[in-house]
Amino acid sequence: MKTRKKIEEIIRVDLAGEKGAIGIYKGQLAIIKNKSLSLEIRNMLKKEEEHYRKFSELLVKYRVRPTILDPIWEKGAFGLGLLSAILGKKATMACTEAVEEVIIDHYENQAKYLKGKDNYLEKITKKFADDEKDHMLQAKNYDTGSDVFHKVFKLSVKSLSKFAIKLSEKI
Ligand SMILES: [Fe+2]
Ligand SMILES: [Fe+2]
Repeated sequence: MKTRKKIEEIIRVDLAGEKGAIGIYKGQLAIIKNKSLSLEIRNMLKKEEEHYRKFSELLVKYRVRPTILDPIWEKGAFGLGLLSAILGKKATMACTEAVEEVIIDHYENQAKYLKGKDNYLEKITKKFADDEKDHMLQAKNYDTGSDVFHKVFKLSVKSLSKFAIKLSEKI
């Protein structure tokens, strides 16, 4: 694939992903009453909003068309956030852990690809991978569950995230 096209895909999918992350956290915050938990989530949300702003800038700078699936991801992510929060504290953080696991991989692969092709973008994807790593570790502190239910929940969230990524790269 041509570098230019691949870079467009990277920006398109990352912008959509960050919007999804924002949606998840907003959905969770709509349900969660626990003060310390919601403070933690609000701080993660702030990071995702920074990430989102960066990719919005890049979208303009690189003249990339956003994914047409944007509104779907936004609502879907919000719904997933609601659902995870309704299921409880463990599921809430299990959701973050699962999403971040996929996203860290995703950013790291992009950074590898971008090396020597676009150093600026490479730096951004590396930095964001580190931020998402912090979120994942924070989530893991909550003992996100080794029981069947939470295991299945995490696997489902991971598959869903991967599916959303695949689609957003292309359309
Ligand atoms: Fe992010
Ligand atoms: Fe994150």
